[in-house]
This record gives sequence, C-alpha cells and structure tokens, in this order.
Amino acid sequence: MGAPEGLGIEARGVTRRFGTVQALRGLDLTVPYGQVTALVGPNGAGKTTLLLILATLLGADEGLVRIAGHDVRTRPGEARDALGWMPDTFGVYDQLTVDEYLAFFADAYGLPKDERSRRLRALLTLVHLEDHLGQPVHALSRGQKQRLGVARALVHRPRVLLLDEPASGLDPRSRIELRDLLRSLAADGVAVLVSSHILSELEEIADRVVLVDHGRTVGEHSMADLADASAARVRWRLRSLDPGLLAEALATELSGRSGLDPVRDLPGGAEAGPLTETEAAGLLAALVTRGVPVTGLAPAGSALETAYLAMTENRR
Ligand SMILES: Nc1ncnc2c1ncn2[C@@H]1O[C@H](COP(=O)(O)OP(=O)(O)O)[C@@H](O)[C@H]1O
Ligand SMILES: [Mg+2]
Repeated sequence: MGAPEGLGIEARGVTRRFGTVQALRGLDLTVPYGQVTALVGPNGAGKTTLLLILATLLGADEGLVRIAGHDVRTRPGEARDALGWMPDTFGVYDQLTVDEYLAFFADAYGLPKDERSRRLRALLTLVHLEDHLGQPVHALSRGQKQRLGVARALVHRPRVLLLDEPASGLDPRSRIELRDLLRSLAADGVAVLVSSHILSELEEIADRVVLVDHGRTVGEHSMADLADASAARVRWRLRSLDPGLLAEALATELSGRSGLDPVRDLPGGAEAGPLTETEAAGLLAALVTRGVPVTGLAPAGSALETAYLAMTENRR
C-alpha cells in the first residue's frame, strides 16, 4: 500500500471550551500519510481534547477538521471508518481473552465472519501477541496491553491512526517495539499521530513534531532538521579542573546571550547553551585562551528538547 493523495488529518482553527476552561484556542494541525507525527506539549496543553475531536468523540466549538478528506461534522461516518483510535486509558474489558477482545471490535466494525479469523491472526502477529490468544486481557503486561490496543485500533485497516500517550509507562523494550510497529505502519502509508508530554519517547518514533501549548500550535519541526547537529542549537556540558574559574569565564563569554539560563553550575563543571557545534567549538577555544583547564565538552540534551524548553520558557 502506498501513501494516498492528500492529508490524513487536517485541522484548522479548532476551538473547544469546557465551562470556563478554554482547552483549545484555534489549533492548526496537518498530518501527512506515510509519516509519524508527534503532538507534544505539557499536561493540560489540549492534546487529549484535540484527539477526541479528531476521533469524532467530541465536538469542536469552531474550526474545520477533516479525516482522510472527510469533514467530521458533515461526514462523521466516513471519518470514523478511516480512523483508528487508541485512548490514553485502556478499556474495561478485562474479563475477555485476547482473541475475544479483538473479535468484539471486529464485530463492532462489521468485519465479515470469513475474513475475521484471518484478520485477527494477522493483527496478533503484527503486534507480537500470537502466543497470547487465550490469555485474559488483565493478565497482560502494560506493554502487551498497549500493543493489543494498537491491534484493536487497526482492526478495520484505518488510513489514519490516532494514539494518545501510547508510550507512557512503557519499559524501554516495549517502547522500541511500539516504535518499530508505528514506523512500519507509516511505511505502509498510514498517517500516524501520537501524543506525548515526554520528549525522549518521541525522538526515535516521529518524523515530525508539532508543539502545542495552551490550546495552540506553537511550533513545528521535522526530526531530520532537528537531527542536523551542525545547524541545531543544543546545551553543552563542560567539565574543568577548576569549576570556579570555568563558571567565571563562561559568564563573561556568554554575557548578553538571551534565553534559557545560558550558564548553569554543575558539580565539577557547568552546562551552557543553547549553542551550535561551531559556537561550542569557539567557546572552547576562548575558555582555553583564558587559561581554564577544560577536561570535557559534550552535548547535553537534544535539539527537540531545546525547542520545547524555548517554547515553554516564552509562555511562562
Ligand atoms: N471534560 C472536561 N471538562 C472540563 N475541563 C476539561 C475537560 N477535558 C479537558 N479539560 C481541560 O482542558 C484542558 C486541556 O486538557 P487535555 O486536552 O486533557 O490536555 P492534555 O491531554 O494535553 O494534558 C485542561 O485545562 C483540562 O483541565
Ligand atoms: Mg492527555
């Protein structure tokens, strides 16, 4: 399956209020087919509210939302057929076994009986649960439940997949399996949108990241751009035999630089930035010229982290 034409998700100027809380204030988002797009923002930013609206489970007050080209207001049925949805909290079907659980959703989506068992087997293989068929859902580990949730969301072969905080609480191995699964779905042409408030979960999963805060889109980056280390500004960790002299020299060298605590003291050294690689090399030369005995210089944190911190800094 190649990537279809058009956009998997298109949201323009979406607003939603809960009583006195304005959860979304004109949010814009596009999600292309064939990519994993990450929706990143702090708790309360409006991620779940937006995903519920995209999943047609909640109405927007204003704005336009199209799923696989279908307006969710005028064509909710077509939109629903095109999307798979994995909520942040797992359902309450604990008494069911793994195959009963998936069969339930296959029925709900009207999958023909003769196709059903083949489809369920393929799904269980895809999420590596083929050995857990008769096992009760409640006996699965968190990572296995998460993967079952993905299988459930894929029962009807959606072209758009929405996942709310899928990696939260997963151990590293489960996270890697989830990453591989989402990457292979994207490679098959699916438009994948995954939310998180934890950046490190997404750096390897996503092709693109959309930053949201206070119900608005505040930034958008491609991971390829962020990964271009020579252009990216990150923070740097420095070590020195004389941390006091290092701190003094850094303060002088970086005075007048704005944003994000240019210098932070650490035991045995300091953290400085954000700086590009070229700037960091220049800084090192200047420190050495000033007689600072520098023993180490290494990037601390990623470019995505820097972009995220800059966003929340501006809005504090
Ligand atoms: N059903 C609701 N009733 C009242 N307030 C809500 C409801 N759902 C969300 N909110 C509020 O809307 C804002 C955005 O919440 P949410 O979309 O859950 O953010 P996120 O998923 O990014 O943490 C928060 O201030 C939250 O308290
Ligand atoms: Mg949420």
